[in-house]
Amino acid sequence: MPTMSLFFLALCTPALAILDYDIRAPAPNPLWRRGSSRNIPPAGFYDPRNGNGSWLTSVPDTFPAGLGEPLNAIISASSDPLVLVDQQTDGGMRNYFYAVGFGSECLGQHDGSNQGANLGDGNGLQNQTAVLRWDYGDPVFGTCTETVEGGNHIRYWTQNGKEADSGAIFLAVSYEEPVADDHDIIFDGYNLGRDWMVGNATNQSSLVPTTQVTNGSTFSGQISYGGYTYQTDVTYLSGLLPNTSIGVNHNLTVSSNTTNALDGLVAVLNIKVVSKPTSSAFALSPTRPWHLLLSALLSIALPVILSL
Ligand SMILES: *[C@@H]1O[C@H](CO)[C@@H](O)[C@H](O)[C@H]1NC(C)=O
Ligand SMILES: *[C@@H]1O[C@H](CO)[C@@H](O)[C@H](O)[C@H]1NC(C)=O
Ligand SMILES: *[C@@H]1O[C@H](CO)[C@@H](O)[C@H](O)[C@H]1NC(C)=O
Ligand SMILES: *[C@@H]1O[C@H](CO)[C@@H](O)[C@H](O)[C@H]1NC(C)=O
Ligand SMILES: *[C@@H]1O[C@H](CO)[C@@H](O)[C@H](O)[C@H]1NC(C)=O
Ligand SMILES: *[C@@H]1O[C@H](CO)[C@@H](O)[C@H](O)[C@H]1NC(C)=O
Ligand SMILES: *[C@@H]1O[C@H](CO)[C@@H](O)[C@H](O)[C@H]1NC(C)=O
Ligand SMILES: *[C@@H]1O[C@H](CO)[C@@H](O)[C@H](O)[C@H]1NC(C)=O
Repeated sequence: MPTMSLFFLALCTPALAILDYDIRAPAPNPLWRRGSSRNIPPAGFYDPRNGNGSWLTSVPDTFPAGLGEPLNAIISASSDPLVLVDQQTDGGMRNYFYAVGFGSECLGQHDGSNQGANLGDGNGLQNQTAVLRWDYGDPVFGTCTETVEGGNHIRYWTQNGKEADSGAIFLAVSYEEPVADDHDIIFDGYNLGRDWMVGNATNQSSLVPTTQVTNGSTFSGQISYGGYTYQTDVTYLSGLLPNTSIGVNHNLTVSSNTTNALDGLVAVLNIKVVSKPTSSAFALSPTRPWHLLLSALLSIALPVILSL
Protein backbone atom coordinates (compact mmCIF):
# COMPACT_ATOMS: atom_id res chain seq x y z
CA MET A 1 0.00 0.00 0.00
CA PRO A 2 2.77 2.58 0.82
CA THR A 3 4.36 1.88 -2.57
CA MET A 4 1.09 2.62 -4.28
CA SER A 5 0.60 5.82 -2.28
CA LEU A 6 4.07 7.05 -3.18
CA PHE A 7 3.41 6.34 -6.80
CA PHE A 8 0.18 8.29 -6.73
CA LEU A 9 1.83 11.16 -4.91
CA ALA A 10 4.63 11.23 -7.46
CA LEU A 11 1.99 11.53 -10.16
CA CYS A 12 0.48 14.49 -8.40
CA THR A 13 3.63 16.64 -8.43
CA PRO A 14 3.20 20.13 -9.84
CA ALA A 15 5.56 19.35 -12.75
CA LEU A 16 3.08 16.82 -14.08
CA ALA A 17 0.02 18.76 -13.08
CA ILE A 18 0.61 21.45 -15.69
CA LEU A 19 -0.23 19.03 -18.48
CA ASP A 20 -3.41 20.15 -20.12
CA TYR A 21 -4.76 17.02 -21.73
CA ASP A 22 -7.90 15.33 -20.64
CA ILE A 23 -7.73 11.86 -19.11
CA ARG A 24 -10.30 9.98 -21.14
CA ALA A 25 -13.47 9.35 -19.23
CA PRO A 26 -15.17 5.96 -19.46
CA ALA A 27 -17.35 5.60 -22.52
CA PRO A 28 -20.63 7.53 -22.39
CA ASN A 29 -23.66 5.62 -21.23
CA PRO A 30 -24.89 3.78 -24.32
CA LEU A 31 -28.45 3.72 -22.98
CA TRP A 32 -28.84 7.42 -23.50
CA ARG A 33 -30.72 8.22 -26.69
CA ARG A 34 -30.67 11.66 -28.25
CA GLY A 35 -34.12 12.99 -28.92
CA SER A 36 -35.87 10.17 -27.07
CA SER A 37 -39.36 11.16 -26.02
CA ARG A 38 -39.13 10.86 -22.28
CA ASN A 39 -41.97 11.72 -19.97
CA ILE A 40 -40.30 13.90 -17.40
CA PRO A 41 -42.22 13.56 -14.14
CA PRO A 42 -43.07 16.86 -12.36
CA ALA A 43 -40.61 16.06 -9.56
CA GLY A 44 -37.81 15.60 -12.11
CA PHE A 45 -37.33 11.91 -11.20
CA TYR A 46 -39.36 8.86 -10.23
CA ASP A 47 -39.27 7.64 -6.61
CA PRO A 48 -37.35 4.34 -6.84
CA ARG A 49 -39.60 2.80 -4.17
CA ASN A 50 -42.54 2.91 -6.60
CA GLY A 51 -40.74 0.32 -8.72
CA ASN A 52 -39.33 -1.92 -5.99
CA GLY A 53 -36.15 0.17 -5.82
CA SER A 54 -34.44 1.83 -2.87
CA TRP A 55 -32.85 5.12 -1.80
CA LEU A 56 -29.95 3.10 -0.40
CA THR A 57 -27.31 1.47 -2.54
CA SER A 58 -26.36 -2.14 -2.10
CA VAL A 59 -22.79 -2.48 -0.82
CA PRO A 60 -21.19 -5.91 -1.28
CA ASP A 61 -19.75 -7.80 1.68
CA THR A 62 -20.81 -5.53 4.54
CA PHE A 63 -20.98 -6.66 8.16
CA PRO A 64 -23.76 -7.10 9.03
CA ALA A 65 -24.87 -7.95 5.49
CA GLY A 66 -27.13 -5.67 3.47
CA LEU A 67 -25.88 -2.20 4.46
CA GLY A 68 -26.20 0.61 1.92
CA GLU A 69 -25.20 4.17 1.17
CA PRO A 70 -27.62 7.01 0.42
CA LEU A 71 -28.67 8.28 -3.00
CA ASN A 72 -28.55 11.75 -1.49
CA ALA A 73 -28.55 13.99 -4.56
CA ILE A 74 -30.21 13.96 -7.97
CA ILE A 75 -29.64 15.80 -11.22
CA SER A 76 -33.27 16.46 -12.10
CA ALA A 77 -34.51 15.28 -15.48
CA SER A 78 -35.88 18.82 -15.91
CA SER A 79 -32.27 20.02 -16.25
CA ASP A 80 -30.87 21.16 -19.58
CA PRO A 81 -30.72 18.05 -21.80
CA LEU A 82 -27.03 18.80 -22.49
CA VAL A 83 -26.16 18.19 -18.82
CA LEU A 84 -28.01 14.87 -18.72
CA VAL A 85 -25.59 13.34 -21.23
CA ASP A 86 -22.65 11.46 -19.69
CA GLN A 87 -19.93 13.09 -21.75
CA GLN A 88 -17.17 15.68 -21.61
CA THR A 89 -18.02 17.47 -24.83
CA ASP A 90 -20.95 19.82 -25.61
CA GLY A 91 -21.26 20.92 -21.99
CA GLY A 92 -22.16 17.39 -20.87
CA MET A 93 -22.29 16.02 -17.33
CA ARG A 94 -18.53 15.43 -17.14
CA ASN A 95 -17.86 19.06 -18.04
CA TYR A 96 -20.43 20.17 -15.46
CA PHE A 97 -18.63 18.17 -12.76
CA TYR A 98 -15.29 19.70 -13.80
CA ALA A 99 -16.97 23.04 -13.08
CA VAL A 100 -18.08 21.75 -9.66
CA GLY A 101 -14.56 20.40 -8.98
CA PHE A 102 -14.90 16.65 -9.63
CA GLY A 103 -13.10 14.55 -12.24
CA SER A 104 -13.06 10.96 -13.39
CA GLU A 105 -10.87 8.51 -11.53
CA CYS A 106 -7.07 8.75 -11.34
CA LEU A 107 -5.73 7.83 -14.80
CA GLY A 108 -8.96 6.03 -15.58
CA GLN A 109 -8.31 3.32 -12.97
CA HIS A 110 -11.29 2.28 -10.85
CA ASP A 111 -10.32 2.15 -7.19
CA GLY A 112 -12.68 0.64 -4.65
CA SER A 113 -15.61 -1.68 -4.83
CA ASN A 114 -18.73 -1.43 -6.97
CA GLN A 115 -22.06 -0.56 -5.41
CA GLY A 116 -25.42 -1.51 -6.84
CA ALA A 117 -28.51 0.69 -6.97
CA ASN A 118 -32.05 -0.21 -7.93
CA LEU A 119 -33.68 2.97 -9.22
CA GLY A 120 -37.05 1.27 -9.64
CA ASP A 121 -36.88 1.68 -13.40
CA GLY A 122 -37.08 -1.99 -14.26
CA ASN A 123 -33.33 -2.46 -14.66
CA GLY A 124 -32.97 -3.98 -11.18
CA LEU A 125 -29.68 -3.63 -9.33
CA GLN A 126 -27.01 -1.98 -11.49
CA ASN A 127 -23.44 -1.15 -10.52
CA GLN A 128 -22.59 2.56 -10.56
CA THR A 129 -21.86 3.95 -14.02
CA ALA A 130 -18.62 5.46 -12.67
CA VAL A 131 -17.05 7.25 -9.71
CA LEU A 132 -16.15 10.95 -9.72
CA ARG A 133 -13.60 12.31 -7.25
CA TRP A 134 -12.83 15.78 -5.90
CA ASP A 135 -9.99 17.07 -8.07
CA TYR A 136 -8.31 19.46 -5.60
CA GLY A 137 -8.32 22.18 -8.25
CA ASP A 138 -6.48 20.05 -10.80
CA PRO A 139 -8.77 18.42 -13.38
CA VAL A 140 -5.95 16.22 -14.75
CA PHE A 141 -4.22 14.63 -11.77
CA GLY A 142 -6.20 15.96 -8.78
CA THR A 143 -8.37 12.86 -8.52
CA CYS A 144 -5.16 10.87 -7.87
CA THR A 145 -4.69 13.04 -4.78
CA GLU A 146 -8.28 12.21 -3.76
CA THR A 147 -7.58 8.50 -4.13
CA VAL A 148 -4.67 8.81 -1.67
CA GLU A 149 -5.68 11.66 0.64
CA GLY A 150 -9.42 11.00 0.67
CA GLY A 151 -12.05 13.64 0.02
CA ASN A 152 -15.42 14.01 -1.58
CA HIS A 153 -16.56 11.44 -4.13
CA ILE A 154 -19.67 10.58 -6.12
CA ARG A 155 -21.08 7.34 -7.54
CA TYR A 156 -23.84 7.80 -10.10
CA TRP A 157 -26.59 5.94 -11.94
CA THR A 158 -29.07 7.09 -14.60
CA GLN A 159 -32.76 6.28 -14.18
CA ASN A 160 -33.40 5.06 -17.70
CA GLY A 161 -35.09 1.65 -17.53
CA LYS A 162 -38.34 1.07 -19.40
CA GLU A 163 -40.51 1.24 -16.26
CA ALA A 164 -39.37 4.72 -15.16
CA ASP A 165 -37.36 6.34 -17.92
CA SER A 166 -36.93 9.84 -16.46
CA GLY A 167 -33.29 10.34 -17.46
CA ALA A 168 -32.53 11.77 -14.00
CA ILE A 169 -29.07 11.02 -12.62
CA PHE A 170 -28.94 9.72 -9.04
CA LEU A 171 -25.80 10.52 -7.02
CA ALA A 172 -24.39 8.85 -3.91
CA VAL A 173 -22.12 11.52 -2.42
CA SER A 174 -19.81 10.90 0.53
CA TYR A 175 -16.59 12.25 1.97
CA GLU A 176 -14.04 9.52 2.51
CA GLU A 177 -10.94 9.21 4.65
CA PRO A 178 -7.41 8.62 3.25
CA VAL A 179 -6.57 5.29 1.63
CA ALA A 180 -4.40 4.52 4.70
CA ASP A 181 -7.63 4.39 6.73
CA ASP A 182 -9.27 2.04 4.23
CA HIS A 183 -11.42 4.81 2.77
CA ASP A 184 -13.92 4.86 5.62
CA ILE A 185 -16.37 7.75 5.55
CA ILE A 186 -15.66 10.73 7.85
CA PHE A 187 -18.05 11.55 10.71
CA ASP A 188 -21.33 12.86 9.19
CA GLY A 189 -19.65 12.28 5.81
CA TYR A 190 -22.82 11.49 3.82
CA ASN A 191 -24.61 14.71 4.81
CA LEU A 192 -21.43 16.84 4.67
CA GLY A 193 -20.31 15.36 1.33
CA ARG A 194 -23.71 16.18 -0.19
CA ASP A 195 -23.66 19.73 1.18
CA TRP A 196 -20.06 20.49 0.12
CA MET A 197 -20.93 19.27 -3.36
CA VAL A 198 -24.02 21.52 -3.35
CA GLY A 199 -21.94 24.44 -1.99
CA ASN A 200 -19.50 24.10 -4.87
CA ALA A 201 -22.18 23.50 -7.50
CA THR A 202 -23.98 26.70 -6.48
CA ASN A 203 -20.79 28.76 -5.99
CA GLN A 204 -21.53 29.52 -2.32
CA SER A 205 -19.07 31.76 -0.51
CA SER A 206 -19.90 30.05 2.80
CA LEU A 207 -20.74 26.47 3.74
CA VAL A 208 -24.24 25.08 3.34
CA PRO A 209 -25.28 24.82 7.04
CA THR A 210 -25.82 21.06 7.28
CA THR A 211 -27.56 21.10 10.66
CA GLN A 212 -30.01 23.75 9.46
CA VAL A 213 -31.03 22.54 5.98
CA THR A 214 -34.55 21.22 5.95
CA ASN A 215 -37.32 20.20 3.54
CA GLY A 216 -37.65 23.04 1.00
CA SER A 217 -34.24 24.71 1.63
CA THR A 218 -32.87 26.20 -1.62
CA PHE A 219 -29.44 27.28 -2.87
CA SER A 220 -28.60 28.77 -6.27
CA GLY A 221 -25.55 29.97 -8.14
CA GLN A 222 -23.43 29.81 -11.26
CA ILE A 223 -20.20 28.01 -12.11
CA SER A 224 -18.33 27.54 -15.37
CA TYR A 225 -15.80 25.33 -17.13
CA GLY A 226 -14.57 24.97 -20.69
CA GLY A 227 -16.55 28.00 -21.79
CA TYR A 228 -19.89 26.70 -20.46
CA THR A 229 -21.63 28.51 -17.61
CA TYR A 230 -24.20 26.60 -15.59
CA GLN A 231 -26.96 27.88 -13.32
CA THR A 232 -27.77 25.34 -10.59
CA ASP A 233 -30.90 25.62 -8.44
CA VAL A 234 -30.94 23.15 -5.56
CA THR A 235 -33.97 22.18 -3.48
CA TYR A 236 -33.71 19.84 -0.50
CA LEU A 237 -36.49 17.28 -0.08
CA SER A 238 -37.39 15.07 2.87
CA GLY A 239 -39.63 12.02 2.91
CA LEU A 240 -37.53 10.10 0.36
CA LEU A 241 -34.30 9.01 2.06
CA PRO A 242 -34.75 7.52 5.51
CA ASN A 243 -33.66 9.76 8.41
CA THR A 244 -31.67 7.10 10.23
CA SER A 245 -28.40 5.30 10.96
CA ILE A 246 -29.96 1.85 10.77
CA GLY A 247 -28.85 -0.14 7.75
CA VAL A 248 -26.34 2.53 6.65
CA ASN A 249 -22.80 1.49 5.68
CA HIS A 250 -20.10 2.73 8.12
CA ASN A 251 -22.87 3.73 10.55
CA LEU A 252 -20.60 3.22 13.58
CA THR A 253 -18.19 5.95 12.46
CA VAL A 254 -20.45 8.39 10.58
CA SER A 255 -23.11 8.77 13.27
CA SER A 256 -23.39 9.56 16.98
CA ASN A 257 -26.27 9.34 19.41
CA THR A 258 -27.25 12.88 18.41
CA THR A 259 -26.45 12.82 14.66
CA ASN A 260 -28.08 10.29 12.34
CA ALA A 261 -25.87 8.87 9.58
CA LEU A 262 -28.53 10.20 7.20
CA ASP A 263 -30.48 13.38 7.93
CA GLY A 264 -33.18 12.23 5.50
CA LEU A 265 -32.65 14.96 2.90
CA VAL A 266 -32.05 14.61 -0.84
CA ALA A 267 -30.61 17.58 -2.77
CA VAL A 268 -32.34 17.93 -6.15
CA LEU A 269 -30.20 19.86 -8.66
CA ASN A 270 -31.89 21.63 -11.54
CA ILE A 271 -29.12 22.69 -13.94
CA LYS A 272 -29.39 25.08 -16.88
CA VAL A 273 -26.69 25.99 -19.40
CA VAL A 274 -26.73 29.80 -19.42
CA SER A 275 -23.85 30.36 -21.85
CA LYS A 276 -21.77 28.34 -24.25
CA PRO A 277 -18.34 28.83 -25.82
CA THR A 278 -18.44 31.24 -28.71
CA SER A 279 -15.62 29.52 -30.58
CA SER A 280 -13.80 26.22 -30.64
CA ALA A 281 -11.01 27.91 -28.66
CA PHE A 282 -12.49 26.39 -25.52
CA ALA A 283 -12.78 22.89 -26.90
CA LEU A 284 -11.23 20.41 -24.49
CA SER A 285 -9.20 17.91 -26.39
CA PRO A 286 -5.72 16.46 -26.35
CA THR A 287 -3.59 19.11 -27.99
CA ARG A 288 -0.12 17.67 -28.39
CA PRO A 289 0.91 14.18 -29.48
CA TRP A 290 3.31 13.74 -26.52
CA HIS A 291 0.43 14.23 -24.11
CA LEU A 292 -1.39 11.36 -25.77
CA LEU A 293 1.77 9.25 -25.65
CA LEU A 294 2.32 9.95 -21.93
CA SER A 295 -1.32 9.24 -21.21
CA ALA A 296 -1.09 5.91 -23.02
CA LEU A 297 2.13 4.93 -21.22
CA LEU A 298 0.68 5.78 -17.80
CA SER A 299 -2.48 3.82 -18.54
CA ILE A 300 -0.35 0.78 -19.29
CA ALA A 301 2.04 1.28 -16.38
CA LEU A 302 -0.50 1.90 -13.64
CA PRO A 303 -2.26 -1.49 -13.62
CA VAL A 304 1.16 -3.16 -13.63
CA ILE A 305 2.33 -1.11 -10.66
CA LEU A 306 -0.93 -1.63 -8.78
CA SER A 307 -0.63 -5.36 -9.20
CA LEU A 308 2.88 -5.48 -7.62
C1 LIG B 1 -37.41 -6.30 -5.54
O1 LIG B 1 -36.06 -5.94 -5.27
C2 LIG B 1 -35.36 -6.91 -4.49
C3 LIG B 1 -33.98 -6.31 -4.14
O2 LIG B 1 -33.47 -5.52 -5.17
C4 LIG B 1 -35.26 -8.21 -5.27
O3 LIG B 1 -34.63 -9.17 -4.48
C5 LIG B 1 -36.68 -8.69 -5.63
O4 LIG B 1 -36.60 -9.83 -6.45
C6 LIG B 1 -37.44 -7.58 -6.35
N1 LIG B 1 -38.82 -8.00 -6.56
C7 LIG B 1 -39.45 -7.78 -7.69
C8 LIG B 1 -40.90 -8.20 -7.74
O5 LIG B 1 -38.92 -7.27 -8.66
C1 LIG C 1 -21.16 -5.45 -10.34
O1 LIG C 1 -19.77 -5.52 -10.11
C2 LIG C 1 -19.36 -6.77 -9.55
C3 LIG C 1 -17.88 -6.69 -9.28
O2 LIG C 1 -17.62 -5.73 -8.31
C4 LIG C 1 -19.69 -7.90 -10.51
O3 LIG C 1 -19.34 -9.13 -9.90
C5 LIG C 1 -21.18 -7.89 -10.80
O4 LIG C 1 -21.48 -8.85 -11.78
C6 LIG C 1 -21.61 -6.53 -11.32
N1 LIG C 1 -23.07 -6.51 -11.43
C7 LIG C 1 -23.70 -6.11 -12.53
C8 LIG C 1 -25.21 -6.14 -12.48
O5 LIG C 1 -23.11 -5.74 -13.53
C1 LIG D 1 -16.24 22.63 -1.87
O1 LIG D 1 -15.73 21.31 -1.72
C2 LIG D 1 -14.55 21.25 -0.92
C3 LIG D 1 -14.04 19.81 -0.96
O2 LIG D 1 -15.02 18.89 -0.60
C4 LIG D 1 -14.88 21.69 0.50
O3 LIG D 1 -13.71 21.68 1.29
C5 LIG D 1 -15.45 23.10 0.45
O4 LIG D 1 -15.86 23.46 1.76
C6 LIG D 1 -16.65 23.14 -0.49
N1 LIG D 1 -17.15 24.50 -0.59
C7 LIG D 1 -18.38 24.84 -0.19
C8 LIG D 1 -18.76 26.27 -0.35
O5 LIG D 1 -19.15 24.02 0.28
C1 LIG E 1 -18.62 32.49 -8.42
O1 LIG E 1 -18.56 33.41 -7.34
C2 LIG E 1 -17.48 34.31 -7.40
C3 LIG E 1 -17.46 35.19 -6.17
O2 LIG E 1 -18.39 34.81 -5.21
C4 LIG E 1 -17.59 35.18 -8.65
O3 LIG E 1 -16.46 36.02 -8.74
C5 LIG E 1 -17.65 34.28 -9.87
O4 LIG E 1 -17.87 35.06 -11.02
C6 LIG E 1 -18.77 33.26 -9.72
N1 LIG E 1 -18.73 32.34 -10.86
C7 LIG E 1 -19.64 32.40 -11.84
C8 LIG E 1 -19.48 31.43 -12.96
O5 LIG E 1 -20.59 33.17 -11.82
C1 LIG F 1 -41.42 19.09 1.48
O1 LIG F 1 -41.68 20.35 0.88
C2 LIG F 1 -42.43 20.24 -0.32
C3 LIG F 1 -42.54 21.63 -0.90
O2 LIG F 1 -41.25 22.12 -1.16
C4 LIG F 1 -43.78 19.64 -0.03
O3 LIG F 1 -44.50 19.49 -1.24
C5 LIG F 1 -43.59 18.28 0.62
O4 LIG F 1 -44.85 17.77 1.02
C6 LIG F 1 -42.71 18.38 1.83
N1 LIG F 1 -42.41 17.04 2.29
C7 LIG F 1 -42.53 16.66 3.53
C8 LIG F 1 -42.19 15.24 3.83
O5 LIG F 1 -42.93 17.40 4.41
C1 LIG G 1 -34.34 13.67 11.33
O1 LIG G 1 -34.56 13.16 12.63
C2 LIG G 1 -34.09 14.00 13.68
C3 LIG G 1 -34.31 13.28 14.99
O2 LIG G 1 -33.73 12.03 14.96
C4 LIG G 1 -34.85 15.31 13.65
O3 LIG G 1 -34.30 16.17 14.63
C5 LIG G 1 -34.69 15.96 12.28
O4 LIG G 1 -35.50 17.12 12.21
C6 LIG G 1 -35.10 14.99 11.18
N1 LIG G 1 -34.79 15.60 9.91
C7 LIG G 1 -35.68 15.70 8.92
C8 LIG G 1 -35.21 16.34 7.66
O5 LIG G 1 -36.81 15.30 9.01
C1 LIG H 1 -26.06 0.09 11.97
O1 LIG H 1 -26.99 -0.69 11.17
C2 LIG H 1 -27.15 -2.00 11.69
C3 LIG H 1 -27.93 -2.83 10.67
O2 LIG H 1 -29.21 -2.32 10.49
C4 LIG H 1 -27.83 -1.89 13.03
O3 LIG H 1 -28.00 -3.21 13.58
C5 LIG H 1 -26.97 -1.07 13.98
O4 LIG H 1 -27.67 -0.85 15.20
C6 LIG H 1 -26.66 0.28 13.36
N1 LIG H 1 -25.68 0.98 14.19
C7 LIG H 1 -25.85 2.25 14.55
C8 LIG H 1 -24.74 2.86 15.35
O5 LIG H 1 -26.82 2.91 14.22
C1 LIG I 1 -24.30 10.00 23.84
O1 LIG I 1 -22.91 9.73 23.69
C2 LIG I 1 -22.10 10.44 24.62
C3 LIG I 1 -20.66 10.11 24.27
O2 LIG I 1 -20.44 10.15 22.89
C4 LIG I 1 -22.44 10.00 26.01
O3 LIG I 1 -21.66 10.74 26.94
C5 LIG I 1 -23.92 10.22 26.28
O4 LIG I 1 -24.26 9.69 27.56
C6 LIG I 1 -24.77 9.54 25.22
N1 LIG I 1 -26.17 9.91 25.43
C7 LIG I 1 -27.14 9.01 25.36
C8 LIG I 1 -28.53 9.54 25.57
O5 LIG I 1 -26.96 7.83 25.14
